[in-house]
Amino acid sequence: MSELPEHVARNRALWDDWAAKYVASGERRWASADPIWGVFRVPESEVGMLPDDLAGKDAIELGCGTAYVSAWMARRGARVVGIDNSEAQLATARRLQREHGLDFPLVHGNAERVPYPDASFDFAISEYGACLWADPARWVAEAARLLRPGGRLAFLTNAFLLTLCVPDETDVPATDRLLRPAFGMYRVEWPNDPGVEFHLSHGDWIRMLRRSGFEVEDLIEVRPAADATTSYPYVTLEWARQWPCEEVWKARKR
Ligand SMILES: C[S@@+](CC[C@H](N)C(=O)[O-])C[C@H]1O[C@@H](n2cnc3c(N)ncnc32)[C@H](O)[C@@H]1O
Repeated sequence: MSELPEHVARNRALWDDWAAKYVASGERRWASADPIWGVFRVPESEVGMLPDDLAGKDAIELGCGTAYVSAWMARRGARVVGIDNSEAQLATARRLQREHGLDFPLVHGNAERVPYPDASFDFAISEYGACLWADPARWVAEAARLLRPGGRLAFLTNAFLLTLCVPDETDVPATDRLLRPAFGMYRVEWPNDPGVEFHLSHGDWIRMLRRSGFEVEDLIEVRPAADATTSYPYVTLEWARQWPCEEVWKARKR
């Protein structure tokens, strides 16, 4: 524990504390045959987070939480590993593995230092996991190390624009006002929240990915359907229909 970077130790404590709140949504997503993504449950057909040819491939989920994304990949025939910083989140994941009759390695650890050799995987994915809570300079480089040449990375996180517009107050939704500077944003600590997040501008993500050995293949600004719903308080459907509240990055290891 003492060897963990400060932000990883803080986020471990936070997610061990929050894990109970994520049990029900984890159960629902494990039970969903078709992948649904993000806070508005956008269908896979809208974002294509998963490659079509996952069967027989080695895939890792970086910050798997309750591991429903890993479950979707395992059901598509991938050899899956999930790594997460929170033992409490993994306890839910392990129970759901047993209940759904799926078995794949779940590693308790920091996605910035994954205990697998170089070039072990064909695909790496994160949905609000390492891509939001781990230091991009560390986890993107680690994803590049873990992937084989030509391997793919996909991640979904808060859109940069949303991060500029979300009020500091907890549970207050984003408005159409820019509330903080875009330049220089990287590590973000919200006033009423003990966690540490990382938010990068699009230019910074592109440079980070390219510097780490990736070619950027796509950036999808997610737009939920007109009848989509969310249980998250920080963005309304009205907002998310006008501006992207989430973004999906896809990259390929050179
Ligand atoms: C929002 S959950 C992501 C899982 C799931 N896709 C979801 O959206 O509920 C965030 C997860 O990231 C994990 N996490 C945070 N920092 C991490 C790190 N450095 N390495 C691995 N996992 C991390 C947390 O423990 C938590 O389970």
